[in-house]
Amino acid sequence: MKQKLVYLWIALLGALSLYLLWTVSDLQYSLKASEQKIERLLKEETEDHEEGEEHYELAVAMGRFQLYANKLWFSGIAGNAELSDFYAHELEEAMEEVAEQELTENGQSISEQIKIWGLEPLEKLEEAVDSGDKQAFEQSYDALVSSCNGCHVTCGYSWVRIKRPETPAFDNQWYTKN
Ligand code: HEC
Repeated sequence: MKQKLVYLWIALLGALSLYLLWTVSDLQYSLKASEQKIERLLKEETEDHEEGEEHYELAVAMGRFQLYANKLWFSGIAGNAELSDFYAHELEEAMEEVAEQELTENGQSISEQIKIWGLEPLEKLEEAVDSGDKQAFEQSYDALVSSCNGCHVTCGYSWVRIKRPETPAFDNQWYTKN
């Protein structure tokens, strides 16, 4: 009789430990699943954020670069220093705005690249405008255009190729001095 009771206890304890083991592993499993879900959600959120910012900001800014680069050429060859300074300044502001964003393109930091390929050659161009030397203007304008393209190559957009303009983007504005 006593022996039977001992067996019963052993069986009960065995069942209890099996139950506990099962519960613990079940808990571990759902914890792991929740962790993975949180990780996935966080990743999706950062990706959405990055894509949204890159596409909006950069496309708009590049359009402005292109327009000011066009106007800057025609005011420059017309020897209109005031107007050229104005466009150089607008271009500088547009570049600084891009530099303030935390953007990356194909692993390149846009803020860093814009300083090297954008703001530095633009500063030289501004000096040339102020000197009133037409040849210096043309040379530094071409250097700026090469830098636009240098950055496009560096950022993986080698097919976006900028050049000296042949016609003004708009025909309803005087570029000559008043
Ligand atoms: C920081 C490096 C960098 C510099 C400097 C740079 N670009 Fe870009 N440009 C880019 C990137 C990156 C793209 C692709 C943008 C995108 O993904 O929307 C681009 C795209 C463009 C486009 C195509 C979009 C469109 O509106 O057709 C034009 C045009 C353009 N750039 C003009 C210029 C001009 C003009 C300059 C120089 C005054 C310049 N860029 C300087 C990085 C640069």
